[in-house]
Amino acid sequence: MAFNIAVAGKGGTGKSTLSALIIRYITEEIGKSVSAVDADPNASLGALLGLHVQNTVADLREDIVAKKVDFSGMSKDRYIEYAIEESIIEKEKFDLLTMGRPEGPKCYCYVNNLLRKYMDKVGTAYPFVVTDNEAGMEHLSRRTTNNVDLLLIVSEPTIVGALTLQRILALADSLPVAIRQKFCVLNRVPRNGIHENLQQKLDSLGVEISAIFPFDQEVYDNASCGSSVFEISRENELYQKLGRFLQKHLPSSLIEKSVAGRT
Ligand SMILES: Nc1ncnc2c1ncn2[C@@H]1O[C@H](COP(=O)(O)OP(=O)(O)O)[C@@H](O)[C@H]1O
Ligand SMILES: [Mg+2]
Repeated sequence: MAFNIAVAGKGGTGKSTLSALIIRYITEEIGKSVSAVDADPNASLGALLGLHVQNTVADLREDIVAKKVDFSGMSKDRYIEYAIEESIIEKEKFDLLTMGRPEGPKCYCYVNNLLRKYMDKVGTAYPFVVTDNEAGMEHLSRRTTNNVDLLLIVSEPTIVGALTLQRILALADSLPVAIRQKFCVLNRVPRNGIHENLQQKLDSLGVEISAIFPFDQEVYDNASCGSSVFEISRENELYQKLGRFLQKHLPSSLIEKSVAGRT
């Protein structure tokens, strides 16, 4: 089974940026392929990976519910499977599936079931799955079989951020998927570190911080120009720090291959 990494947190904390950098690190430094899933309705993972996303699973769902679809002689199941496959962008070292905007009040269980089947299939075909989640992690709550091996909860370095971390940790415990490891990280932390009031708040809430990722000017400038994370220098401080975090927490059996021995 694939090693499943899920990235969660409040909007604007850096989930997509860290997800994209994780995908770059796994493909370029560890040399393994990744199935990437953008489960945030405010889809941006594709752009950060330098891709132009045209089809999302939500569009497909809408079309089917609105009966705008010509199944062209295919069974409905087959058509949906085909359409899901059509919405995947394939690159040499990773694939991206974009879920798109939320479902609204209608029940699209049928497509969701097929999507789940697809995710199960992907889980056996790739060494890594990386999912950029929405704040409420609804995507994870819909999954039935794929467990999460590593959940990264991203926060801004503020009191509101600390309270949100506590809330998301509790939410993660209530999800119907097994989550093997959970890590809270602070992102965009200024040079002078985190405020002592924040540390006290984190301590009083019992929230442990596993990594502190700095505010990074190059990452910020890169995003301001709309460039992909592949444009960021390999020596970049945030990229290197995230890499060390992954090296520490990924199973050694999955990271033993270096760039020289890409699979
Ligand atoms: N460590 C960082 N240093 C500098 N800018 C960052 C950092 N992490 C994220 N950003 C910037 O913050 C903004 C929000 O990040 P994004 O990844 O889109 O957040 P989210 O996916 O949680 O909404 C983007 O402009 C991104 O470039
Ligand atoms: Mg995002």
